[in-house]
Amino acid sequence: MAGSKDGRRKSPQDSRKAFRLPPVMGHRGAAAHAPENTLASIRRAAEAGASWVEFDVMLTGDGVPVLFHDDSLDRVTGEHGLMAETPLARVAKLDAGAWFAPEFRGEGVPTLREALELVLELDLHPNMEIKSTPGRDVETAIAALEVAGNVWPAERPPPLVSAFSRMSLAAAMTLRPDWPRALITFTIPADWQTALKALNCQAFHVYHKVLDWELVPLIHSAGCEVATFTVNDQRQAKALYEAAVDCVISDVPERALAAFEESRAKPA
Ligand code: G3P
Ligand code: MG
Repeated sequence: MAGSKDGRRKSPQDSRKAFRLPPVMGHRGAAAHAPENTLASIRRAAEAGASWVEFDVMLTGDGVPVLFHDDSLDRVTGEHGLMAETPLARVAKLDAGAWFAPEFRGEGVPTLREALELVLELDLHPNMEIKSTPGRDVETAIAALEVAGNVWPAERPPPLVSAFSRMSLAAAMTLRPDWPRALITFTIPADWQTALKALNCQAFHVYHKVLDWELVPLIHSAGCEVATFTVNDQRQAKALYEAAVDCVISDVPERALAAFEESRAKPA
């Protein structure tokens, strides 16, 4: 495995083009430091040194894209009901911070627009994960890309759009063919190469427990960058960088950054 100018490992038969993931992405903001998918979490990701931040985009009952992970409101708001059945007027009153720690009481569920405006203010780069609830794969992608298209300055590199749903990615490819896409998986599907090619993805985001290190050069030779989630252990992150993984998505971005620096210090 050869080294490159930026200290990252390259694979033999590497077919990647210009798109590059950062070595570290904050997960749901910086989910170890602040309540996930909130503006506070995005701020903590920046404070922890992350240059990119991943968050989940889901639709409210009335079709407004907000940052939220679960189908149900219960875990992070303590309220009953489904996000997909809750109008924005009620979502705007939810407390998504108190469950995490008293200091975050009153932290709300941000709209995608509010999140992207903060991302710009902090000079971060966004990875918008399209988190569809059942049957809303295309609708969620359309709504998220419409908001992002209005907020995101044309002169900046476009946001990365990722999803488990191939239907969401196909919609994103139609609407914004020039915005980079990443397929996310918890398992390695037999047709992963065909899927990445059909969706013209620039990255493959793979659950760390199923990322066989021999797969990394194969993903590179399929023309894609490799990210893995969610890795919060510094030694594990260092080993992943040494296996030529391009990006570690972490709740604790500063640990992944330290691991990346350690991996660069070691001769490739
Ligand atoms: O985008 C990677 C990761 O966020 C996917 O899993 O469940 O944390 O959204 P999840
Ligand atoms: Mg996510």
